Amino acid sequence: MRKIIVAIDGYSSCGKSTMAKALAEYAGYTYVDTGAMYRAVALYALEKGLDEQQLVAALPDIHISFIHKADGQHVCLNGKDVEAQIRTLEVGNKASQVSPIKAVRQFLVAQQQAMGDEKGIVMDGRDIGTVVFPNAELKLFLTATPEERANRRFKELQDKGENPVFEDVLRDVNDRDYRDTHRAESPLRQAEDAVVVDNTEMTKEEQIAHIRRIFDDHINR
Ligand code: DC
Repeated sequence: MRKIIVAIDGYSSCGKSTMAKALAEYAGYTYVDTGAMYRAVALYALEKGLDEQQLVAALPDIHISFIHKADGQHVCLNGKDVEAQIRTLEVGNKASQVSPIKAVRQFLVAQQQAMGDEKGIVMDGRDIGTVVFPNAELKLFLTATPEERANRRFKELQDKGENPVFEDVLRDVNDRDYRDTHRAESPLRQAEDAVVVDNTEMTKEEQIAHIRRIFDDHINR
């Protein structure tokens, strides 16, 4: 079967990584979580206490790789598994500060493009269909209403034993959307040829089935 590149973009907390992982598994493709790469750079900057200029100078010392463990893909920073460390709120916030830096984006985009050389890849992020792989054979743009995404995050936080306030979570979702779509470097936007999947009213199983159908239709064309 011919191998293609699948680019998945969309807002934060709309299930991109869950969908990307499920599709990669279905297709027998490699999954690449580009958000994890920005988070790893953010962790490096936090650990070393670097400002923007120092971080840009240190980029050649940052080596990011992925390994496969029983519970899925883990990101490594200079050979050390940092999967748990990058998922904190602090690193997430720092990632949204380092991701607008042009040199950081150029550094990571070059690595992401190299990963697509062999095709057979599902990559998710914000700029995959527009900047990283503008020629990707299949582009998906995931979306859901801010209220629904805030609801999902609210439940996730409650499941983690936290005591969130819904209005705060919704404000955070809206703020992140604003930052993602208004930054000067590679803002989040829908590629013209992307297939839009609004999953506000869909269960996870319905979304997976829907995305599999789109993929199958595409590959059999
Ligand atoms: O999807 P995420 O929350 O793991 O992303 C972390 C941060 O990196 C978030 O601020 C958006 C940014 N990001 C980006 O600018 N470009 C990408 N391709 C992926 C993530």
